[in-house]
Amino acid sequence: MVDKSLIDLSWDDFDEQRDPRPAGNDFDKVVDRAISRRGFLGGALAFGSGAAVFGSGLMSSTTAARAQGASGFAFTPIGIATDHEIHVPEGYAHKVLVRWGDALWSEAEGAYSPETGVSVEMSDKVFGENTDGMELFEVDGREVIAVNSEYVNPKINLPAASEGVPQSADEVTLLKNLQGVTVMEVTRGEDGYQVVKDSPLNRRITHETEMTLEGPLAGHALVKTNADPEGRTVKGTMNNCGSGRTLWGTYLTCEENFNGYFGATGAEPVGEGYARYGIGGEGRYAYEKFDARYDLSQEPNEPNRHGFVTEIDPADPTSTPKKRTALGRFKHENAAMVQASDGRVVVYMGDDERGEFLYKYVSNGTWEEGQDGGDLLDDGTLYVAKFNDDQTGQWLALTPETTGMDLPEILAFTRMAASAAGATTMDRPEWVAVNPLKAEAYVALTNNSRRGEGASNAGGDDMSVNAPNPRETNNYGQIARWTPEGGNHAADGFSWDLYVMAGNPAVYDNAYAGSENVTEGNMFNSPDGMVFSSDGMLWIQTDGDDDNEGDFEGMGNNQMLVGNPETGEIARFMTVPNGAEVTGLCFSLDKTVAFVGVQHPGGAWPDGEGAPRSSVVAVWREDGATIG
Ligand code: FEO
Ligand code: CA
Ligand code: CA
Repeated sequence: MVDKSLIDLSWDDFDEQRDPRPAGNDFDKVVDRAISRRGFLGGALAFGSGAAVFGSGLMSSTTAARAQGASGFAFTPIGIATDHEIHVPEGYAHKVLVRWGDALWSEAEGAYSPETGVSVEMSDKVFGENTDGMELFEVDGREVIAVNSEYVNPKINLPAASEGVPQSADEVTLLKNLQGVTVMEVTRGEDGYQVVKDSPLNRRITHETEMTLEGPLAGHALVKTNADPEGRTVKGTMNNCGSGRTLWGTYLTCEENFNGYFGATGAEPVGEGYARYGIGGEGRYAYEKFDARYDLSQEPNEPNRHGFVTEIDPADPTSTPKKRTALGRFKHENAAMVQASDGRVVVYMGDDERGEFLYKYVSNGTWEEGQDGGDLLDDGTLYVAKFNDDQTGQWLALTPETTGMDLPEILAFTRMAASAAGATTMDRPEWVAVNPLKAEAYVALTNNSRRGEGASNAGGDDMSVNAPNPRETNNYGQIARWTPEGGNHAADGFSWDLYVMAGNPAVYDNAYAGSENVTEGNMFNSPDGMVFSSDGMLWIQTDGDDDNEGDFEGMGNNQMLVGNPETGEIARFMTVPNGAEVTGLCFSLDKTVAFVGVQHPGGAWPDGEGAPRSSVVAVWREDGATIG
C-alpha cells in the first residue's frame, strides 16, 4: 500500500520524516523560548562580534527608523499580492512563454488537456513540469533556453482515477518524462517571445536519457549495478533543481532531492550513506514498484549514481550528458561557475538540507577563452566552507588526509567527508550567485526550522546557532556573502558578512525583524533562487510561506526582488500567484526580456480554468529598455 501522504509533503518535510528530531532533546522548549523571548537579538548574536557580521549599514535598528520601500532602482517597487495573478512594476509587462504540457514539436500540438493532462506517448514531447533553474545560450545566432523540470505533481499529472499514485509502469514513465531538462529555441515574434516548435535544437532530457559518469568515481564499485556492471553509463538525471553555465557555453543541471525516488520492495539494504542522504523505506512516487532501477532491494547502488552536477551541451541535441562526479554528491541546488584570477575554474555549490554545507570545486587546470571544458570538471579539488565568528572563513579541502576517506568515497559520500573535515552547518544552502563586477559571491540560506540548541543535521553535526546562521527556529532565512582572499576565488581564505537577514519588522522588534535593509515595504521570507544580472544587481527569488498570516503577515505571495550589493537596498519587483514559488531566471541576449520560472502555482493560473500549470513567464519594459 502506497503512503499517499508522502506525495503531498514538501521536500523539507520529507527530510524531516527521514531524519526525525531526536526524542527528548528539549527542542520544543528551545523553540518556545525563541518565539517568546524579547531582546533576542542580543542573546542570539552574543557568541561573537554579533553586530559585525552585518555589512555596513545593514544592522537592524528600530522599526520606526526603517524606511518604507527602497529607491535607486529603475522601477517603482510593488506591494505584496495575495491573489492568483502575476504582478510587475508600472511600465513593465509580462506574458506566459510556455506551460507544462505545451508542445515542443508539432506532433504534440494539443497534447495537453485540462481534464487528462498529457498521454505517456506525448509526455517527452512537451515542456516539463515544475520549471526551475534555466540559462539562455546563443547557438549559431539563435537563442536557446535550457531549463529544469524539478519534480512532478502526480495529482495533477496523472488521471484522476490514480489519485496521485502511479498505478502502472506507463504512469511511472509519464511522471519520469515530465522531469529532467528541456532545451528549447525561443524567438521574438510580433507577439513577443515564443518557443520555436520543431527547432532542430529542441530536446527533452528525462529519467530515461542515457548519460555517462565522468571523473574519479566513474567505474568504481560503488556505482556498478546489474544494469551497468561497468559503472560508467547511467539512465537519467532527476530532481533537477537550480542551474549553472560553464565558461565554455554548456549547461549545468543540478540533481537535488534524488533520494526520494528510491524505495525498497523487498529486503531493504542498509547502504553506505543511506541514512545521511535520506535514502530508504518507501519512495515518494512508487517508482520502485514498476521499475527495478528505483528498487533498492534489487539495485542498492543506483542512488550512488545520482546527486551530481550534470553537464549538457545545448548546441548539440545528440550529445551525451555527463555527470561530473568530481563536484561531489549531495542535494545540489545550483552551480555557480567563475574563473579565478589565476585562471582556474571555480564552481560554488550549496547542499539544500537543514545543517548541510556550502562547497566549492577548484580545477587543477586553467581555462582560456575559446577552449572547451576538457577535463576541467574531472580533475580538481572539492572544498567545504568553514565560517568563523570573526567574519573570516576557510575552504577546507576534502582529501584523504582531512577526511579519512579515499577520493571515490569522498565524491560518493561528500556529506560525510565534509562533516569529517569540520564544515560549518548552514541553514539550507540554496542558490549561489557570483557578482560579475567584483570578487564576491552570495548564498541564499533559505530557512532552518530546526536551528537551535541540541539540534543536529542528518549526520549528527551540531546545529546550534553560529555566526552566519544566528537565529534559532529560523523561518525567514538570510543571504550570506563572501570575498575571497586576494580577490582570487581559488584562494583558501575568505571574509564574509550577511547581506540581508529576512524578517518581519511589523511583527517583531528583535532579530526576527530582520536586518535594517528589510522594511515593511520589501519584506519577504525564504530566499532561494539568486541570479546576478550583468549590471551587478542581485535578483532574489523566494520559496517561502505565502499564507500572509502570523509571522508571515504582510509578506504576501512569493516574490522576486532586486538587491543592490553596494547600498544594501532591496526592492520588490514581481509577485507570483499564491501557492507558487518563483525560481529560475535568465535574460534575452539583448537583455530587454527576463524569463522567470513560476513553479507549483495555485488557483487556476495561468489558464483561468482547470488545473494550475507551472510556467516560464517573459517580463519586459514597455519602452523596450534593458532590464538585466
Ligand atoms: Fe529545489 Fe532547494 O530547491
Ligand atoms: Ca530552490
Ligand atoms: Ca526552496
